[in-house]
Parts: sequence; structure tokens; C-alpha cells
Amino acid sequence: MNYLTKSKENFKNKICLVRVDLNIEKGQEKDSLRLNVIKPTVDFLTKRGAKILLLSHRGRPIKKDRKQSLGLLARYLNLHQFKKQPIKFISHFDFKKIKKRLKAAPLKSVFLMENLRFFPEEQINSRSFAKKLADLGDYYVNDAFAVSHRANASIAAIASFIKSFAGLQLEKEIKNLNGLLKKAEKPVILILGGGKPTDKIGFLKAFFLKADYFLLGGGIANTFLAAQKLPIGNSLRDHNKKTLAFINRINRRKIIQPVDYVINNKQILDIGPKTIDLYSRYIKIGRTIVWNGPLGLIETARFAKGTKAITEKISQHKAFSIVGGGETADFIIKLKMDKKIGFLSTGGGAMLEYLSGKPMPGLEALNKSH
Ligand code: 3PG
Repeated sequence: MNYLTKSKENFKNKICLVRVDLNIEKGQEKDSLRLNVIKPTVDFLTKRGAKILLLSHRGRPIKKDRKQSLGLLARYLNLHQFKKQPIKFISHFDFKKIKKRLKAAPLKSVFLMENLRFFPEEQINSRSFAKKLADLGDYYVNDAFAVSHRANASIAAIASFIKSFAGLQLEKEIKNLNGLLKKAEKPVILILGGGKPTDKIGFLKAFFLKADYFLLGGGIANTFLAAQKLPIGNSLRDHNKKTLAFINRINRRKIIQPVDYVINNKQILDIGPKTIDLYSRYIKIGRTIVWNGPLGLIETARFAKGTKAITEKISQHKAFSIVGGGETADFIIKLKMDKKIGFLSTGGGAMLEYLSGKPMPGLEALNKSH
């Protein structure tokens, strides 16, 4: 991997396109890990006299959608992380004008381009769109580990047109996750929750032999309960028949599922107190803990108790812990317990795919880049 920290390039007066992940829910800016990790790469480059154009997506729009604009995030960053070095937001997509503005800008200037997913070409990894982006700069830096599992133009195709590097956060993510893969001490406990049960089932399949116990919450727990014909009302779950067949086929000795729940409007929205006790006992015996996805609907305080209690248990325990997923990581930062966790990953799906050993388009593109 071409790490930026190891590069011998002269970045003075060069335009660096830095892909970051600003996929943050509105109102979640304050404790956002993703916003907090942008600065080191920006500082690294501006100290060397580069000019920067930050690139990102937000949400899954397929055309221009003001609600998903990055403009407000630029304003937020300027009030906090970028107070001394304000980011200039570019709201249009006139590539010629953007190039001219970047060229004329003083050294160390930082710009942010509008949400790239306003172009449908971004999500289909269009080579012509990637080339248009690449033509804006001299170098490309991928610092968006959290979206590197997507074959998107600004993540994958772009790296074939321009000299490319892995940014500081991406390097940190890879090194920490590699460390975990190399020497995960047993018992390994995996905690899986959140609202995307299909992703989590895929990970559970890939990790089934490597982990000792899986503690389930959120959509994946509901999917297991439903497969056993236990009542889950209208709760979120994976309806795929293959998933149900998989659940019924496996030896469930390793699967630890909720024994009580917090229910509202016929939906399971959190784990209950007996489950917190049960999961705490497993956490106590774990030497390695990997957690992805909250155990309840943490946006609402009364459904966040399970996730909070499990965070406290992990923070009191000496096992090595890695927690991933924007939402879970931000929740831990909000609780001010982030220093007690071994490593917080910006990646949700990306962290799971990396640990599963799946090839990731963004990382493959960096490896192939000249
Ligand atoms: C994420 O939030 O996991 C990344 O930003 C990727 O977003 P996506 O799932 O919409 O591609």
C-alpha cells in the first residue's frame, strides 16, 4: 500500500484530492468520529504546501437533493475542527471553474466539493466521471476507509488516473485491523447489532469458525428469533429465505441471543436487563472483543440503555476491543468512553468486509495505482 506518510513526493503547490467520508446523519456532527479524523491528513499535506480539495458523499441520493448537501457540514467544520484554516465550500459542479479556482488559490487552501452522489456516475464507478475528478488534481489520497468497500468513482476508478496514496486515517484503520487479524487472543467475542441485518449475517458466516461467541442485538438478533418462530412483531429483520435456512442449519451453540427485550409499538427496540447481565458475563471472559452496530435504537435515550451498559462493561474490562460503525463509535464518543476502547473504526460495513477478508474496491485500486 502506498502510504502518504511514507511518500517522498514534493507536495508544494500541488493540488491533492482527498477522499473523506462525511456520511453523517444530520444532528450527529458533534460527536462524529468521521469528522474528527479528517484533520491529520489535511495538516500533513498543508504543512508541505499542498492545496486540498476534499471529496465525499453523504447518504444515497441519486440526484441533487438539498437535504444531503455537504454545505452545512463545511460550516460546522469551520466552527470547530477547521477554525484556523476555514474550508471553502464549492456548491457547483463546473469542473473547469473549479480547476481554475484551485490553481489560483494560495498554498494550503482547503476546499470541499458538493456531495458526489448528486451524480449517478459516482455510484456506478463511472470511469469518465472518475477521470473528470482526477483531472482536477495532481495527487489523490483515499482517507475514507469507511466507504472503501464500495466501487464508487471517487474511491475506485479514480486511482487509475492519478498518483494515489492511502491517507493517515486509512493507514491507521488497516494497521489496527491487521493487528487484530494477526493476533486475536481467544476467546474472541463478536457483538453484532444495528439496522443492517443482511450485512451482519454475511459477516457472521465469514467469521463463524474464528469467533468463540456471537452476542446479538438489533436486526440480526430479530432475524435469529424469527427463524426460531419466536414472536418479534414488526421488528426489523432480514427476510431472505437463504438467511433463515443458514440459521436453521448452523450449530447455534456459539450464538447468544437476547432473553428479554424493550418493546414499543410491537417492535423490539433494545435488549432488556437480563440480556445485559448475560452478555456482560461473556464480555468478562473475552480476550478480544469486536463490536459492530448498536444493540438498540440509540437515537432515543430510553432505547439506548443496552448499548450504554455494554459499552461500560467493555470499558471496565482488559480485553482488546475494536468497535466499528459510525453510529456505535459516535455513541461511545458521546459517552466519553472512547479512550477506554482499543480502537474505534470509522467503518461499519467496511470494517466487517475487511475483517472477513473480502477484497475491497478502494484498497485494491490503491494497490494497483502507479
Ligand atoms: C457508510 O456509512 O458505511 C459509508 O459511508 C458507506 O455508505 P453507503 O453504505 O451508503 O455506501
